Amino acid sequence: MKNRRQLLFTGLMLAAASITAPAHAQAPAAKLKVGLMLPYTGTFAALGNAIENGFRLHVTEQGGKLAGREIELIKVDDESDPAKATDNVNKLIKRDNVDVVVGSVHSGVAMAMARVAKQSGTLLIVPNAGADAVTGAMCAPNIFRSSFANWQPGYATGEAMVQRGHKKVVTITWKYAAGDEMVGGFKEAFQKSGGQVLKELSLPFPNVEFQALLTEIAASKPDAVFAFFAGGGAVKFVKDYAAAGLKKSIPLYGTGFLTDGTLEAQGADADGILTALHYADGLNTPRDNAFRLAYAKTYKLQPDVYAMQGYDAAQMLAVGLAAVKGDVTKKAEFAAALRKARIDSPRGTFTLSPSHNPVQNLYLRQVVGKENRSIGIASKALGDPGKGCSM
Ligand code: BEZ
Repeated sequence: MKNRRQLLFTGLMLAAASITAPAHAQAPAAKLKVGLMLPYTGTFAALGNAIENGFRLHVTEQGGKLAGREIELIKVDDESDPAKATDNVNKLIKRDNVDVVVGSVHSGVAMAMARVAKQSGTLLIVPNAGADAVTGAMCAPNIFRSSFANWQPGYATGEAMVQRGHKKVVTITWKYAAGDEMVGGFKEAFQKSGGQVLKELSLPFPNVEFQALLTEIAASKPDAVFAFFAGGGAVKFVKDYAAAGLKKSIPLYGTGFLTDGTLEAQGADADGILTALHYADGLNTPRDNAFRLAYAKTYKLQPDVYAMQGYDAAQMLAVGLAAVKGDVTKKAEFAAALRKARIDSPRGTFTLSPSHNPVQNLYLRQVVGKENRSIGIASKALGDPGKGCSM
């Protein structure tokens, strides 16, 4: 038992300690919780992993902290299933109390996420899904995209196909928002120059039974085909197209997802395919070279468009957080900073449109060996079809 004198001494020491503690000493900032809602299973699993890798790479380059706040990632596998998306994003927001949500790949999933983000006011950065509505009819001060609107690569591919003299085309896609909107962008560019769409073929996502549709393509005798598939589905489509003997007679084009992150598995069946996308191999800029080197060193893999979009989602979060000194409740200041930012992306710098979608160059790429080599620019500084939105 301490006697009165000892107690008095201890009390004096404590008081002295509190007087001599520096006045500026503060508790360390709480961790910033980022909910990563991505597909880790199914046909888009590789896309989800690449986005996470890219996101982590930028955070690691910043010492694990953005605007002084340590980043904690909380992951959910959304399975590219729109029916589960509302529950999944609500779990992140309400159960895990995340400060920011980053996701997803599939347009249907992203639309459900955008609805919840709009209602709850939670910051959302979309690192792939191109649903036009996310930065169109559903746009909001707290919703941003680091990737593209579906219309953009569709339109750019259409322009490239016109330039290469194609007149009669068949389109083929999975039947959901991404496919419909990419075909829509393609048709807009292609038809306004007098191009004719002979047939619009589709199958439900994520089916890969292409045989009957390939027979229809052969019977239609188009002078080219426009396709949207991605991930595992794109690998199978390109291989089946070649196996059906079509590669020799009918040139295959697509939005760049058809051959991005897939070339190892597609092998020679992808050789020569032309696509348009906001990223390419062989850009050979100091910024892209540095990104590629860092990614290859960290993951022993080459980055693809998905990795780059994940990296830029983290860069965008960093810009917004720096402007509000890590305080995500300051939503208007966060948005204002991003709206005037130039993002120093490996794809080339880009700005955001008034509805928070990248305004960017779309490269024309050709598959050569294991590369989607840039052979020029298909559409320069292309914005999104959104009309802007009142913030
Ligand atoms: C989409 O659903 O928006 C999408 C999925 C994969 C690649 C590109 C777009």
